[in-house]
Amino acid sequence: MDKAFEPRIIAFCCNWCAYAGADMAGVSRLKMPPTFRIIRVMCTGRVDPLFIIHAFVQGADGVIVAGCHPGDCHYISGNLKAKQRINFLKGLLKQTGLDKRLEMYYVSAGEAYRFQEVIEEFTERIRKLGPNPLKKLPPPKKEGNKREVLHTELLWIFKGLGITEIQPWQPSEEEIIPGFGTPVYDPDKCVGCGACYNNCPENVIMLEDVDGKRKIRHYYWSCITCRTCEEICPQDAIKVEEGFDLTAFLQQTVHDDIELPLVKCRICGKFFAPEPMVKEAKEKEIPLELLDVCPDCRKELIGKELVELLGHRGL
Ligand code: FES
Repeated sequence: MDKAFEPRIIAFCCNWCAYAGADMAGVSRLKMPPTFRIIRVMCTGRVDPLFIIHAFVQGADGVIVAGCHPGDCHYISGNLKAKQRINFLKGLLKQTGLDKRLEMYYVSAGEAYRFQEVIEEFTERIRKLGPNPLKKLPPPKKEGNKREVLHTELLWIFKGLGITEIQPWQPSEEEIIPGFGTPVYDPDKCVGCGACYNNCPENVIMLEDVDGKRKIRHYYWSCITCRTCEEICPQDAIKVEEGFDLTAFLQQTVHDDIELPLVKCRICGKFFAPEPMVKEAKEKEIPLELLDVCPDCRKELIGKELVELLGHRGL
């Protein structure tokens, strides 16, 4: 054990219980190691998993989340949600060893001695573990949306610790937290209209027209389960399944969902729309001359017809 090592611990404390407990410990002049920095949050339910990952990336030796006892949360179940997130993160970080540097505690406003005990116990644990090995590395750039930042930082942690082979990890039903999932397509219903791709706020879905085929794919387990695709799909062809797979998430595995043949424009010969979509439109009795022409040629045709019509009327 390095005697000179003084851990730097980040403690996310809920305003109503743990923070008040810490305050009381201070007012009561209880002796505590000066190793922790408190970040006050209104409820532990506010602690996003990304806050914790970010603390480790920035070199924290340990992270505590401290909140109200079960049943006492001022927002009913924020502490239970936080506990679920901590369990999820612990599982996810197991291979990195950072899971031992993370803990959740329940401390009420009147438990000044408990707060002191928690800090002493956790500081001792971190002292034994030594400094966060990621400390020496320059942190990665924070770019993109929250999910992208989580992906970048997690990948950086694994690489930084020299882990080349990521062990598969999937949370159990109790461990899984809301906000991770994957869209599942019904190939019998999907007509390839692209509404899911056009409306996905996280750019999880990809759409490509190549070699006369429309391909729809998505990044596995990068979905935030907002269910926009599910709601927007006119064919009711998508269901979002909750779940998470660490390897697929870190490797940004692409899942092939749909591949549909495209029809050619009868005028310019360009591929422009998936066959099932055109077939469906035909069934809706949309005039055939509008269905086998691409949007560019269609505009031209309509323009010509308009000019003709106006000419007939001497305009
Ligand atoms: Fe304290 Fe929710 S208010 S944990």
